Amino acid sequence: MDAAIGVLDSGVGGLTVVKEILRQLPRERIVYFGDEARCPYGPRPAEEVRRFTEEIAAFLMQFPLKLLVIACNTATAVALESLQDRLPIPVVGVIQPGARAAIKATKNGRIGVIGTVGTIRSRAYEKAILRINPQVTVVSHACPELVPLVESGVLHGPAARAVVERALEPLQGSGIDTLILGCTHYPLLQHVIQDVVGDGVMLISSAEETAREISAILAHHGLLAEDVLADDGHRFFTSGDVVLFRRIAEQWFGFPVDVRHVSPSMSLVHFPA
Ligand code: DGL
Repeated sequence: MDAAIGVLDSGVGGLTVVKEILRQLPRERIVYFGDEARCPYGPRPAEEVRRFTEEIAAFLMQFPLKLLVIACNTATAVALESLQDRLPIPVVGVIQPGARAAIKATKNGRIGVIGTVGTIRSRAYEKAILRINPQVTVVSHACPELVPLVESGVLHGPAARAVVERALEPLQGSGIDTLILGCTHYPLLQHVIQDVVGDGVMLISSAEETAREISAILAHHGLLAEDVLADDGHRFFTSGDVVLFRRIAEQWFGFPVDVRHVSPSMSLVHFPA
């Protein structure tokens, strides 16, 4: 059997990346870890997020993996480089692909970025965008209220709309024509966000571009899965509530998923120096 693609996030957000991986690469198998017990990562100090990310990577490396995806912007901002240096398999983050997609999409050169406090504080998107095109204007804004909304499964309706409206108010009048959903939880609220910002603003989720990058890396290394469709070979782990995780995952994917609970302490596998 082919080795799997490991995917990690602080919670259910990384499922938005998994959905796109499975759409583009339906033969691949996924091993996923959502760290609900310690979610949100956004307000935590960078050092702590780095440690959590390395712990989960070590947990996932117990499976035969061919590639690891840090499907969390907050974790990508602080841990991508160190994991790329330390792991023997390719490690892919979600910031660079999102930055590239936004540059491709903008017509007026004004790009908005929303994300967690940690991601916005790191200025990782701004740096990634300006490194490619210094003439673009980047307007960044942290939306700490959106991750708890998604984790509680409130993805539609007036309650979701009211929170999103309030969170995005500071972007009004900014003149952006492109908005990066710089947190993998946000695509679960995509319809509400699009409704609030209006059709004139193109929403960018890193998922599609990240999956394309994964596809290119696997092809380059001759690692694309050759099994028949992976279907039910996926494994999902959460350090939080299995029932809530399964409900959100099944609603998002439209097929049943097998979810296991792992206590955060079980995931505290020592990461080799
Ligand atoms: N989904 C994650 C991100 O992309 C983290 C959300 C959080 O835990 O605060 O940043």
